[in-house]
Amino acid sequence: MSQAETNAVVFGVGPRQGLGAELCHRAAARGMHVFVNGRTAEKIEAVAEDIIKAGGSAAPLLADVTDEAAVNQAVAEIEQDGRALELAIYNAGNNRPEKFLDVTAEVFEDMWKVICLGGFLTSQALVPLMLKQTDSAPRQSLFFTGASASLRGKAGFSAFAAGKGALRMMVQSLAREFGPQGLHVGHVIIDGAIDGEKVRERFAEYLDSKGEDGGLDIAAIADAFFMMHEQHRSAWTLELDLRPFKEDF
Ligand SMILES: NC(=O)c1ccc[n+]([C@@H]2O[C@H](COP(=O)([O-])OP(=O)(O)OC[C@H]3O[C@@H](n4cnc5c(N)ncnc54)[C@H](OP(=O)(O)O)[C@@H]3O)[C@@H](O)[C@H]2O)c1
Repeated sequence: MSQAETNAVVFGVGPRQGLGAELCHRAAARGMHVFVNGRTAEKIEAVAEDIIKAGGSAAPLLADVTDEAAVNQAVAEIEQDGRALELAIYNAGNNRPEKFLDVTAEVFEDMWKVICLGGFLTSQALVPLMLKQTDSAPRQSLFFTGASASLRGKAGFSAFAAGKGALRMMVQSLAREFGPQGLHVGHVIIDGAIDGEKVRERFAEYLDSKGEDGGLDIAAIADAFFMMHEQHRSAWTLELDLRPFKEDF
C-alpha cells in the first residue's frame, strides 16, 4: 500500500488529454490514492501507470457506469481498500450532436444512461460508503461534471441536454439531502468546448477557430474542482460555471 491516506475515484476517464484523466492526476498530486474508472481497460491502465510513474498512487477500476452490478462491484473494491473515500467525481459523458428528427429512441436512451443513470447508480453506491467514513476523512466531496446543456437545450443537442439537465436536478437533490450530513455535493458546468483529445480529434478546426484560450484548458478546469473540494464547510459551492473569456453565452 502506498503512503496515501485517503482515496479518490473518478468515474468516466478516457485519454490523458481529457478532463477525467486530469482530475485523476490532480487528486494523486494532492496525495490521494486514485481509482481510475472507465470502460476501456487500455485507457484507464495508461492513466494509472502515468500517475504511478509520476510518484503517485493509482489503480484502474474497470466498470461501465450504466451497469448496476459492475458499479456496485467497483465501489465494493474501493471499500475493501480500507482508506476513507475523500473525493468522488462523476465525469462520464460522451456527446453526439444530431438533428432532433434523426435521434433514435435507442440513442436517446443510451445517452441518458451514460450521462444521468450512471450518476444515479454510482451515487447510490458511493453515498452509503462515504457517510460511513465521515470521521476518517478530512473532508468528503461528491462532484459531477455538467455542460452548457445542463442549463439549456440547443438545436442538435436534445438527447445530451435531456441527460445533463436531469443529472443537474438529481445533484441538487443530493446536495440538499446529504450536505447536512457533511458530504459536499457539487456540480461544475463546463460552458464551452474542452481543449482535450475528444474535441481535438473530431472538431480541431472548430477549436482552432476559437483562437488562443478559446477552449477550456483541462488543468484550469481541474483547478476549479479542487478549489471547490478544499472549501470550508461554512461556505460551500453547489454549482460553478466555467467558460472561456471569449465564449459567447
Ligand atoms: N469535451 C467537451 O468539450 C465538453 C464540454 C462540456 C462538457 N463536457 C463534459 O465533460 C466531461 C468530460 O468530457 P471530456 O470530453 O473531457 O472526456 P474525458 O473526461 O476525456 O472522458 C470521459 C470518458 O467517459 C468515459 N465513459 C463514457 N461512457 C462510459 C461508461 N458507460 N462507463 C464508464 N466510462 C464511460 C469515456 O470512455 P471511452 O473513451 O472509453 O468511451 C470517456 O473517455 C463529460 O461529462 C462531458 O459531458 C465536455
